[in-house]
Amino acid sequence: MFNQYCSHCHGPDAVQGERPRDLRRLTRRYGDGATQMFYTTVNNGRMDKGMPVWKGVLPEETMWRIYTFLQSVQVQ
Ligand code: HEC
Repeated sequence: MFNQYCSHCHGPDAVQGERPRDLRRLTRRYGDGATQMFYTTVNNGRMDKGMPVWKGVLPEETMWRIYTFLQSVQVQ
């Protein structure tokens, strides 16, 4: 699902060299706040930066499945 919806901007399997878009670094960047930040960012987007709004596009369940995938690829 990640590769279907997110990879054209965030890289196949979340491998993406550009830091602000590198979703393997969420835990390192946000620590315990990563879950909250993910939820807010995916729902509301960051339209000014080119991150789309997903609220109403993806069911919440899909969103959380993608988050679970991302948790499995976090760098330490
Ligand atoms: C059209 C391109 C595009 C698509 C598609 C896209 N994103 Fe993004 N996303 C971005 C950009 C650009 C940023 C960086 C915004 C910034 O610089 O603050 C971003 C940032 C993020 C962030 C915050 C990263 C951080 O470290 O602050 C999360 C989380 C995120 N995206 C999740 C997703 C998910 C999940 C999907 C798929 C459902 C997705 N994005 C699809 C362009 C995209």
